[in-house]
Amino acid sequence: MSSAREQTRLPPPNSRRNVHSPDFPVPLDPSALIGLVPGQTLRLGSCELCFELASGGMATVYLGVHRGAQGFEKLVAVKRPLPRLCADPDYVDMLADEASVSSDVNHPCVRNVFDLGVAADGSPYLVMEFLVGEPLSSVSHAMAEQPELVQTARHHRIVSRIIAGCCQGMHAVHELTDRSVPREVVHRDLTPHNLFALHDGTVRVTDFGIMRARVRRQRETGQTVLKGKVAYMSPEYLGCKPYDRRSDVWALGVVLWELLTGRRLFRMKREADTFAAVLNAPIPRPSTLCGNVDHRLDNIIDKALARNVDQRYQTAHDMAQDLEAYLAHSGGAGAPEVGAWLRQLLPSSLPKLTALVDATRELTAPRREPPTSVAALVPNGRYAYLRRE
Ligand SMILES: Nc1ncnc2c1ncn2[C@@H]1O[C@H](COP(=O)(O)OP(=O)(O)OP(=O)(O)O)[C@@H](O)[C@H]1O
Ligand SMILES: [Mg+2]
Repeated sequence: MSSAREQTRLPPPNSRRNVHSPDFPVPLDPSALIGLVPGQTLRLGSCELCFELASGGMATVYLGVHRGAQGFEKLVAVKRPLPRLCADPDYVDMLADEASVSSDVNHPCVRNVFDLGVAADGSPYLVMEFLVGEPLSSVSHAMAEQPELVQTARHHRIVSRIIAGCCQGMHAVHELTDRSVPREVVHRDLTPHNLFALHDGTVRVTDFGIMRARVRRQRETGQTVLKGKVAYMSPEYLGCKPYDRRSDVWALGVVLWELLTGRRLFRMKREADTFAAVLNAPIPRPSTLCGNVDHRLDNIIDKALARNVDQRYQTAHDMAQDLEAYLAHSGGAGAPEVGAWLRQLLPSSLPKLTALVDATRELTAPRREPPTSVAALVPNGRYAYLRRE
C-alpha cells in the first residue's frame, strides 16, 4: 500500500547526477551518498527506496528493496518517469510495453522487470533487477583513458563476448510471440547507455520500448531528446523507411565497432552531420585503425553495418554465431575474464556499488522505534528510519 508520504519525500529531479560520476567518493560513507535525504528511505508500494542512482531527461532510477511475505527481500532498481512524463500516455504505454517484453522474454542477457506499479498519485514506476555493473557508455569513457588496453587481442575478445551476449538477448526479444503471432519487437534504442556489462561477467540489454515516446516528445517540445541516439540508428530508420529487427543488428554493429576501436563511428558535433554520416559516410574496417584486429571481426562489422538490409545479418543470432566462431578461434573469453576486464577499466565501480548495496541493507534492516519527537513528525503512523537521530 502506498501513502501520502510517498509523494512528499521525493527529492527534486537533479539532472546529470549519477553514482558513476568521477567525483563520487570512495571509500563511501553512506551519509555522503547522493540520494534521498541522508539516512531516510521512501516507501513506494512494496518497495523501500534508499538511494538515487541516476536522474536524466526522462526518468530517475533508485536503489531499494522489494519486500514480500515472511521477511522476503530483494534488492531492486526502481525507475520513475519525471513528473512531466507521468501524464504522457505514450510514455506510460511504453513503460507497460517494456514491463511486458522484459517479463515475457526471460533471457539471462535481458534485464528482468519484476513489476509495474502505480504510486499514490497515479504515476507509474518500474521495479527492475538491480544491475551490479556499468553501462557500456561508462566503459567507453574509461577506455578513452586507457587507450593501450584497446589495442590488445584480449580486449577484442572481451568486447566480442559482450556483444555476442547482447545479440543473444536481443534475438530472444525479436523472437517473442503472442499466442504464436510474432510480436516483432524492435528495440530502436540500442545505445551504449542501454547495454550493461556486469561485474560477474554477464551482460544485460535494457530499456525496451521508450523510443516512440522519446520521438513524440521531441516533436512536441522541439528539444533534442534524441541527442546521442542518432549515431546508433540505422539508415533505414533515419530515412523513415520500413525497419525491422535488422535495425537493432545495425546498432549492435555500431557499438561493437566503437568498442573495438575506442572511437566514435558516426557521432559529430552537429546532429545533422551525424545524420548524414549514418546515411553516407564510409565505414572504416576496424583493422585499418587498430592494426591487430582479427579479419574475422572486420567481416562481422562489414556484415552488421551493411546499409543494404538484405546484405546485413538477418538476425542478431546470426551475428552472435559469427562472434562465437571468432571467439572459438581466438581463444575465447569467459565471464571471469569479462568481470576482471571491467574492474581493470573502472576500478572504483565495484567498491561503489558494493558500498551502496551495504548501505541499502543497513537502511532497510529491521527497525527500532524512533524517538517520539521523530514519530510525531511523520503522518499515518509511519516513520522514516533516521540513522542519526
Ligand atoms: N536496473 C538498473 N540497475 C542499476 N542501475 C541502473 C539500472 N537502470 C538504470 N540504472 C542506472 O541509471 C542510469 C540511467 O538509466 P536510464 O535508463 O534512466 O537512462 P540512460 O540509459 O542513461 O538513458 P536512456 O534514457 O537512453 O535510457 C544508468 O546509466 C545506470 O547508471
Ligand atoms: Mg537507459
